[in-house]
Amino acid sequence: MTQTDQATTIAPGASAQAIRHHYDFGDDFFGLWLGPERIYSAALFEAGDDLDAAQTRKLDHHIAAAGAAGKARVLDVGCGWGAMLRRLVDQAHVKHAVGLTLSSSQAAFVRERAGPEIEVREESWRDHRPEAPYDAIVSIGAFEHFARPGLSPEEKLGAYRAFFAFCRDSLNTGGCLSLQTIAYSASGITLPPFIAERIFRESELPLIHEPIAAADPDFELIALRNDRDHYAATLVAWERALVARRDEAVAMAGEEAVAEFVRYLRVCAMAFKLDAICLLRMSFRKRDPATSILPGNLRSR
Ligand SMILES: C[S@@+](CC[C@H](N)C(=O)[O-])C[C@H]1O[C@@H](n2cnc3c(N)ncnc32)[C@H](O)[C@@H]1O
Repeated sequence: MTQTDQATTIAPGASAQAIRHHYDFGDDFFGLWLGPERIYSAALFEAGDDLDAAQTRKLDHHIAAAGAAGKARVLDVGCGWGAMLRRLVDQAHVKHAVGLTLSSSQAAFVRERAGPEIEVREESWRDHRPEAPYDAIVSIGAFEHFARPGLSPEEKLGAYRAFFAFCRDSLNTGGCLSLQTIAYSASGITLPPFIAERIFRESELPLIHEPIAAADPDFELIALRNDRDHYAATLVAWERALVARRDEAVAMAGEEAVAEFVRYLRVCAMAFKLDAICLLRMSFRKRDPATSILPGNLRSR
């Protein structure tokens, strides 16, 4: 067992093993239907956008929301196959972009395409000790893995609080966090067993209010939007791409796995369309304890 395994096994979120079960399924397989950049989260569509344009728009949305352009050090928590890291460095003139992932094959993929400005670490944010504070943090589609099923409401909130505490401790004062996550649209909804057991193991979604409650009092909420229709459209585009390249997909992964992926994409698209789950894009600014009028627990830090 590696150090990362040990640290995440006891953590309240998905273990490295559970993350690898899904994300290490095959880079080429994911590339077939996610596209060459393998961006694996909801796009941000405007009229006339195809999926690629909408994915780039989404990256730029988070770069702007986090105030990351031109900054010295930016962290991407859950960097996937590295599209955001490359955008930060190539287009947003960030000097050093650090990405965290628990997937070995994602880390290797990023490393192969990275110049000296990009650093990828196969490490949980729980174990990450930055050598210097970051100017901005983005996290897209990873928060869904930060709590596991079966936690009490207090334990779940505690898991999210630990993430915001990590961001607080890793960010310069005034620095921003841009966060994107799926959430339950209302309490009482649960993940279908097929998704919870076969696709995203050890992972539970937040309720809408939980990230905001967990950010209190260290972060000021700057913006919040629910783009569930954008995730539905993204999932439909992925499913079409996978079905269009079905023969290649089956040759890579087998009939059963491809059928399971198609089912998962359809079930999720339907859940967004029916407003069972939603897609939160939210940005937060780290409060300055020296000037905040908020209670002493913030000022004393
Ligand atoms: C759905 S993918 C999103 C990837 C990327 N942000 C994107 O939009 O394409 C989720 C990512 O979160 C990462 N992840 C999950 N739990 C994590 C943790 N505790 N620490 C760091 N990364 C984590 C996974 O390894 C994976 O890279």
